[in-house]
Amino acid sequence: MHHFEYRDGTLHAEEVNLAALAERVGTPFYCYSSAALRQHYQAFATAMPKGSLIAYSVKANGNLAILRELARLGCGADIVSGGELRKALAAGIAPARIVYSGVGKTVHEMERALKAGILQFNVESEAELEALNSVALALNTRAPVAIRVNPDVDARTHAKITTGTAQSKFGISWNRAEAIYARAASLSGIRIVGIDCHIGSQIVELAPFEAAFTRLIALARQLRSQGHPITTIDFGGGLGVAYRSDNAPPPEPRAYGTMVASLTRALEAQLIFEPGRRIVAEAGVLVARVIYVKETESKRFVILDAGMNDLLRPALYDAYHEIVPLNGPKANTTVYDVVGPVCETADLFAQERALPELKAGDLVAILTAGAYGAVMSSAYNARAPAAEVLVDTKDWAIIRGRADEEALVEQDRLPPWLED
Ligand code: LLP
Repeated sequence: MHHFEYRDGTLHAEEVNLAALAERVGTPFYCYSSAALRQHYQAFATAMPKGSLIAYSVKANGNLAILRELARLGCGADIVSGGELRKALAAGIAPARIVYSGVGKTVHEMERALKAGILQFNVESEAELEALNSVALALNTRAPVAIRVNPDVDARTHAKITTGTAQSKFGISWNRAEAIYARAASLSGIRIVGIDCHIGSQIVELAPFEAAFTRLIALARQLRSQGHPITTIDFGGGLGVAYRSDNAPPPEPRAYGTMVASLTRALEAQLIFEPGRRIVAEAGVLVARVIYVKETESKRFVILDAGMNDLLRPALYDAYHEIVPLNGPKANTTVYDVVGPVCETADLFAQERALPELKAGDLVAILTAGAYGAVMSSAYNARAPAAEVLVDTKDWAIIRGRADEEALVEQDRLPPWLED
C-alpha cells in the first residue's frame, strides 16, 4: 500500500492533502506518514528470524516522534552519540534494546551509556576497548562488548557510504579480531557478549551481505571455540530502498531474512539488525515551493525554496530523488535542472530531469526523503532548516518547527569587546 498518493488531483499523505498542509505550515517542510513507518518496520521485523532485536538506526531520522512511534512497536535503537542515547531514552526505548556503535565514543558518552544500562557497546578499536575498560572499572562494573569486525567485503554502493572494506575507518581488521577478543577477555571491566559488523548503506543486492555474514558467523564459531561467549550477532544495517522507480527493486526484507535464517540455523544466538533507511526513507517527502523558473540559453532551472541545507543527499552523494508536482499526476513534458536557493553550484536536486511543466508558486514533493534528510540539515546561508510534520490517517502535527530567523541570530554571541 502506498501512503503518498494522488487523490482528487492532489498528492496526499495518507488522508492529508499536502497542498492544504503547505498553506498551514509553510514551505519547505518534511512530511512523514505514520502508516508507512509502521508498515516498513513491521515488514522488516516480521521477516527476520524470531527473537531478533531490531535496533533502528537513529541516525537515519532521530525525530522524537518517529522514535516514539517505533518504540511503541517494540523497536530498539542503534545509537552513535550521547545525543542519540538521550533521544532514544526520551522516546521510551528500553536501554536493554539499545546498541551503541561509532568510532569516536568519548569517555563521558561511555559513562552515560553504561549508567543507562544499554545492551552492548559495538567497539571499533583497541584504543576504545581500553578506554571503555577504564570507564567501567571506575564505575565498578563491566561493559557489555561486541567487537565490530571488518569483513573486508565491498558493498558495491556509493564510496562515501561504504564501510566494510579494509580501507575504512570503521571496525577492526579481520586478522586482528582474535587478538582483540583475547585482550578483551583479559580486561576485568569488559564482558564480551557478541560480535558485530556493518558493511555499508543503500546496498541493493544480497550477495555482499551474504559474503560478510558468512565470514562473521565463521569467526563467531571460531571465537566460541576459543572460549569467548558470543551470544549476540549484530549484522548492522544497510538494506537499500528504491530511489528510482525505473531501477530494479532492492531485495525484500523477506529474502534478506531468509538468507540470514539459513546462515544462522544451527547457531544459538540473539540476532541484532540495525536498519535505518529501510524503515524511514519511503515514509517521508520534502515539500517545497517553486520560487522562480529561470531560463538561460542552455538551461531551464526550477528554483525551489528548499535547498541543500534541507536535503543534502543530492549535493553530497549525487543521490537521485524523484520529484513530483503536488497537483497531478501529469505527464513529464519539460526538461529542468531543479535547484535550491543556496549559493553553491552543488545545490542541485535534479539535473536534466523531465518533469511536468512548472511555474512560480507551484508545489512539489521530493520523494523518499524520510531517511538522512532532516537529520543532515543545517542552517547554511543562515537558512532555518525545514519543519517536520507527522501525519497519522487524517491527523497531522508539527514534530519540529522551523526555527525563526530571530532564533538563528540569537544562537550567536557577541564577545564583550564587540558589544556596542
Ligand atoms: N549501523 C551502522 C553502524 C551504520 O553506520 C549505519 C549507517 C546503519 C546501521 C544504518 O544503515 P542503513 O540501514 O540506514 O543503511 N547519509 C548517508 C547514509 C550514511 C549511513 C551511515 N551509517 C545517505 O544519506 O545515504
